[in-house]
Amino acid sequence: MKHLLTTRGLPRDEAIRILDTAGEMAKTQEREIRKLPTLRGKTVINLFFEDSTRTRISFEAAAKRLSADVINFSAKGSSVAKGESLKDTAQTLQAMGADGVVIRHWASGAAERLATSGWTRGAVVNAGDGTHEHPTQALLDAYTIRRHLADGEPGVGLDGLTVAIVGDILHSRVARSDAWLLTTLGARVVLVAPPTLVPLGVETWPVEVVHSLDAALETYDLDAIMMLRIQLERMTGGGAAFFPSPAEYTRLYGLDGTRLARLPKRTIVMHPGPMNRGLEISAEAADSPRSVVVEQVANGVSVRMAVLYLLLAGEEAAS
Ligand code: NCD
Repeated sequence: MKHLLTTRGLPRDEAIRILDTAGEMAKTQEREIRKLPTLRGKTVINLFFEDSTRTRISFEAAAKRLSADVINFSAKGSSVAKGESLKDTAQTLQAMGADGVVIRHWASGAAERLATSGWTRGAVVNAGDGTHEHPTQALLDAYTIRRHLADGEPGVGLDGLTVAIVGDILHSRVARSDAWLLTTLGARVVLVAPPTLVPLGVETWPVEVVHSLDAALETYDLDAIMMLRIQLERMTGGGAAFFPSPAEYTRLYGLDGTRLARLPKRTIVMHPGPMNRGLEISAEAADSPRSVVVEQVANGVSVRMAVLYLLLAGEEAAS
């Protein structure tokens, strides 16, 4: 693996290797001294063209715990705001000697463009490109599900588990990366959304699609339910074209205490963040003991440590 751009096409054994390595990384994080010398002398550049809190911080923490030097570059206040292209930015960063480039960009395909263009010699990690993919989020989701429901042992996939992904599938790179990865790992994935928030061509995805959350709760014996943020910034007109009103959306697709009580006892509640509390998820559901939202964030650091390690630690990691 030279880059991590998508989970679509990521072979099962490679995905499991990342999850297993993340498990090893998590163990090192319980020690008193959490820093490992593994990436000493390597430089990781965080290239963020789109707002992000947790993903950027998570990659930064992961790289630093592996002793890499980290340079954070955010498009706001940089020459990008003055119209500099991705190519010029990448070449400038290359001159600084990047071994790894973590990129978040508003354009779908930006990470792949960077990886295949020759503008940088470093390994490219996609931290979210437009509405396309967000592979490390899917890996941390899979890791979290495996820990809770699939005994968490190394080598194990998600066979036999059922996961519902609910909400704004249309604008969600998380939903796409999760759909590919979770099914590769053996899970059954059910997408739940109004017809207006389901992408064209979804029938070619390896998933089932249901338009009623209540029907989905009735029909499926869910192991995990993942609520997605309504991405108002990707909708023109404040969402009016996609659903009648926020209250109506919540009534039909929100996870509240009543719906939570209908789920099997073992079902975990997930959300990639940032949450719109009161819209797609109620405070009661978000803060319930079955919610693993905070744990997802913690697991994100272990998973990103694993990805950076496998991509950057050289020959010994690649074997
Ligand atoms: C997601 C993203 O940016 O794609 N968030 C994240 O990475 N933590 C999902 C979202 O923004 O809703």
